[in-house]
Amino acid sequence: MDRDESLEKIKQEVLDLKSSPLYEDRVANRAFPVIGEGSHEAEMMFIGEAPGENEAKAGRPFCGRSGKLLDELFLSVQIKRESVYVTNIVKDRPPKNRDPKPEEIELYAPFLDRQIEIIKPKIIATLGRFSMDYIMNRYGLSAQIGPIGRLHGQVFLTTISGQNVKVVPLYHPAVALYNPNNKQELLRDFQILKTLI
Ligand code: URA
Repeated sequence: MDRDESLEKIKQEVLDLKSSPLYEDRVANRAFPVIGEGSHEAEMMFIGEAPGENEAKAGRPFCGRSGKLLDELFLSVQIKRESVYVTNIVKDRPPKNRDPKPEEIELYAPFLDRQIEIIKPKIIATLGRFSMDYIMNRYGLSAQIGPIGRLHGQVFLTTISGQNVKVVPLYHPAVALYNPNNKQELLRDFQILKTLI
């Protein structure tokens, strides 16, 4: 199976994920799971938390207010959004945008693991503490986990399937919507990301 087929298989499996506690809400709201979007050959992958209302309506990641800010951040360093891959840990919207529960992360994370295996990014930028904690725990960086206020913008080295990967924790764009200081930090951290490509 090539990358496109393997990613399509993930999409079909998530569409069929009736065992998810979020499945009934998805159907009741005529919403969609959000699998991910962007280049299947991307060197850089951005991982958020879970779809919000706009995302679940559209079936696309980061297309609401946080997404607008993410677009602004990409533009600030001339990274084309279509050249990277953007996804989330949890693929369905938690009701009322509450934080994802540990059991939801456990259920959906294997799909994210497979997306990483298929796309083979060289740089993984996590957006917010849920994806930071998950990725650092999953890929041998648990000893270095700390508060996102300290870790954001730092580059952590790991190996995934024999390939060197740089993990860069970033603030979630949603926090920057309400806090201009966080926005400045995100803009600075994107400058760091740009030097890694
Ligand atoms: N917040 C996220 O974490 N992901 C999205 O796709 C949108 C908002």
